[in-house]
Amino acid sequence: MVVLAGTGLLDTQETPFSEAVVLDTTAMANDSLSQQAHVVAVSDTLSQEDLAAVTAGNALFKGNCAQCHAVNDVVVGPALHDITKRRPVAWLVPWVKNSSKVVASGDEYAVKLFNQYQQQQMPSFQLSDAEIKNILKYLEVESRTSVSVATTGVIAY
Ligand code: HEC
Repeated sequence: MVVLAGTGLLDTQETPFSEAVVLDTTAMANDSLSQQAHVVAVSDTLSQEDLAAVTAGNALFKGNCAQCHAVNDVVVGPALHDITKRRPVAWLVPWVKNSSKVVASGDEYAVKLFNQYQQQQMPSFQLSDAEIKNILKYLEVESRTSVSVATTGVIAY
């Protein structure tokens, strides 16, 4: 079951968000994540389609990116808070597929970032455009809610 709640505590009276929704996820029964209790903090309601994208993106992020990235903190790589506001999707998709290629192309931003991070190479990923867009959707939602996650400390994935 996926629980959508402002604070992660459904019974709290002081949820900072206008909507706390418990969602029936039978439509996602094939998704292994739906087997686990899974709490997502959202500042507004997600459509079923967006929820599926965010859930898939969350799993892909955990499996491929989380060892080097977090939303709010620099880990090995930069914090990815609001990355979709800072960089166009048309730059992000090729970057995730093969960042070295983007750096090698002479892209000014990429070269600067690469140098800033001591020329540490991010691995290439055999992910589809759709999978990368799911990760970006997850980061978008996570960026909207990460303040509440940090403050309440009650939300666990
Ligand atoms: C082994 C560590 C590592 C992994 C794993 C990794 N990255 Fe990175 N990432 C980096 C580093 C280091 C940079 C900084 C640029 C550079 O040095 O090439 C970076 C930069 C980025 C940037 C640019 C950030 C900005 O502020 O412009 C994005 C976006 C990004 N990574 C997304 C991802 C995604 C999505 C995944 C998973 C699919 C991922 N990374 C996996 C290390 C990693």
